[in-house]
Amino acid sequence: MAVTPAPFPMSRPRRNRRTDWMRDLTRENTLTAHDLIWPIFVRDGDDVVDPIDSMPGVNRLSISRAVEAANDAANLGIPVVALFPYTDPSIKTPGAEEAWNPENLVNRATRAIKQQVPDIGVMLDVALDPYNSDGHDGLVRDGVILNDETLMALEQQALVQAEAGADILGPSDMMDGRIGVIRRALEQNDFPDTAIMAYSAKYASAFYGPFRDAVGASGALKGDKKTYQLDPGNTDEALRMVARDLDEGADMVMVKPGMPYLDICQRVSSEFGVPTYAYQVSGEYAMISAAGQNGWIDREKAMMESLLAFKRAGCSGILSYFALEVAQMMADEARLG
Ligand code: PBG
Repeated sequence: MAVTPAPFPMSRPRRNRRTDWMRDLTRENTLTAHDLIWPIFVRDGDDVVDPIDSMPGVNRLSISRAVEAANDAANLGIPVVALFPYTDPSIKTPGAEEAWNPENLVNRATRAIKQQVPDIGVMLDVALDPYNSDGHDGLVRDGVILNDETLMALEQQALVQAEAGADILGPSDMMDGRIGVIRRALEQNDFPDTAIMAYSAKYASAFYGPFRDAVGASGALKGDKKTYQLDPGNTDEALRMVARDLDEGADMVMVKPGMPYLDICQRVSSEFGVPTYAYQVSGEYAMISAAGQNGWIDREKAMMESLLAFKRAGCSGILSYFALEVAQMMADEARLG
């Protein structure tokens, strides 16, 4: 801080907090719909809206409904939707082959959205967990998560996703070397404009519980993900992962989960100065929703405050299940004045 404020009573910091308009005038960070990426769960079927118990207000949507949702998001100024598939257990295999089926659910959903809602970006996760009968992000042999074999699978998965029209690929698998492999494959196969948002600082977290429920992976997961996701005790390691992913060709980086890792958001954004995103994950959504449902906190205020915190920490944007609700609220406020 370069300037020392005048002593009291010449300086009265409360002058700047006196009224709504004064607070509006002096606010350092704001949230807009353009800061939000909305994760949507997609499932098979016709005109289905399937509620997720552990995420009140969030549904698994069949493709036509997902297209409508993407359209609503686009109309509210949300720039990107991220699609996640609920995969029927019968489709899951030890080799996770469905991941690179050009006609798999997320690829079909991507084509439908890109065709019918051309002005919204589509982001897809690159990782094997929705398709792997072991529930892991990588291929597994004798209980060991295999790195280099997984890279070959991720490369094929990334290419069919780019082919389907995904604008941003989000490798969330945490295998070593994956960004470089995917970036090279995209360049060699004529997808120079497909962006990569690397899940660079992705922690082995208890906050993913409801998501695994949502995609039907909770029952499947054998063991935990600690041999590839980061240890919650580490900060420097997260910075090394970001540096590595940028070096391998990532366009944007992500920190995940969000609220318990705001310190990581802050360090990454200030040390690298690259577009940095946070994923406010399913468990964070579930906590705010559950406390709101019980009347223990004000859902809407807590939701807005939690998202603004990411902007304060230096993030360019946030993946959040609240995205549509927040964008709708902000649009209503702007209309009503
Ligand atoms: C899987 C993936 C996970 C999430 C996004 N992609 C879960 C995991 O790593 O087990 C979690 C998102 C959330 O909890 O909202 N590759």
